[in-house]
Amino acid sequence: MHSSPTPKYDFLQQEKPVYSGADALTRLERWLTLQKNVSRIAVLCDRHTAQDCLPILLKVMPSSIPVAEIVIEPGEHSKSLQVCQNIWQRLTQMEIGREDLLINLGGGVVSDIGGFVASAYLRGLRFVNVPTSLMAMTDAGLGGKTGVDLDHIKNRIGTISFPECTVCFPGFLETLPEVEWKSGAAEVFKHALIADPDLWRALVAHGCTPESLAVMLQRIQRVKMEVVHIDPYEKGLRKILNFGHSIGHAIESQSLSSSTVPLTHGQSVAIGMMIETEISLRMQKLSNGEAEEIIQVLSHYFGKVNLSDYSVSDILKWMRYDKKNQKGEVKMSLLTGIGSCDWNISVDENVMADVLLHYGAKNK
Ligand SMILES: NC(=O)c1ccc[n+]([C@@H]2O[C@H](COP(=O)([O-])OP(=O)(O)OC[C@H]3O[C@@H](n4cnc5c(N)ncnc54)[C@H](O)[C@@H]3O)[C@@H](O)[C@H]2O)c1
Repeated sequence: MHSSPTPKYDFLQQEKPVYSGADALTRLERWLTLQKNVSRIAVLCDRHTAQDCLPILLKVMPSSIPVAEIVIEPGEHSKSLQVCQNIWQRLTQMEIGREDLLINLGGGVVSDIGGFVASAYLRGLRFVNVPTSLMAMTDAGLGGKTGVDLDHIKNRIGTISFPECTVCFPGFLETLPEVEWKSGAAEVFKHALIADPDLWRALVAHGCTPESLAVMLQRIQRVKMEVVHIDPYEKGLRKILNFGHSIGHAIESQSLSSSTVPLTHGQSVAIGMMIETEISLRMQKLSNGEAEEIIQVLSHYFGKVNLSDYSVSDILKWMRYDKKNQKGEVKMSLLTGIGSCDWNISVDENVMADVLLHYGAKNK
């Protein structure tokens, strides 16, 4: 059985550092002064982060380098090849060259699309992630996965390309809407469940609030960075970060393709984690007591799972596109305890269907 690692990642001693905390923007300012070949900076943001975060970022931009922004529409629908093309055209008009810099200022949508755009533009433009949502500060902005969706299939097109540095300034979170905070919290609980039982206890005791985050942010980030450090290209261990995502992505794709107000990524992952906990239990990977505790805590925080708007066949259809599948077989990352997770586990379709029906999905 695979086992989860003990976090020991060092944020600043890495070639591509993560600056995290109240002084993160000052560190970015210092880092920028060392980038002697940069002659232009493009900042990618969405309409919300252009309004709430860009003025703060601009204060630390070097006065000697021209900075121009590219603004995309907020939301998952922007993670498309068409939007990439628009950004590539803007970068070209701005005469951004290979030595220049793209700064991705926003949530996971901006860092996913911006990182992908950068990795393909001129066969590789240097980029910096400045995550502004809880989701991006604790997950999406870290670890180098970039990409866009294809026909609502999540992250179908993408690369693993690492930002030159990552700058997590918690002050940005002051303007983050409540629903988006909750969405990010899902990945925070996930990090705890897959690798850090003490973090889980802390979350159960204090919740995922701005106050608790002030104390726990680096610890949460360390879970992800440690895993990525060991397995950057997802050959094995990194798959544990996908706990909750086999079902979660399927539900998110179905929601994106059929709903006018689709679920957030975090809402989908929270549902996915509860269902995959039940699957872990049924496959005798997890004890009854732990499964009960996890489902009780998650449903208290994110609401009970009710799949009555979904059909089993639709969910199973989307799951066939999951990147973890091998030889046409669904492979999942499943919990083996609170704080440990195993990966590449074959799950029989009948077990999945049974659990989906248990949570109210339609039998068709
Ligand atoms: N690459 C990865 O490893 C990885 C990991 C997890 C999630 N993701 C991806 O990340 C995306 C979800 O990220 P997200 O939840 O950040 O969504 P998002 O980028 O859509 O941001 C959520 C909303 O919050 C707004 N916002 C962000 N920061 C703000 C701020 N400081 N003030 C005011 N408004 C702000 C955005 O404009 C948007 O409307 C999904 O596409 C998911 O697939 C990627």
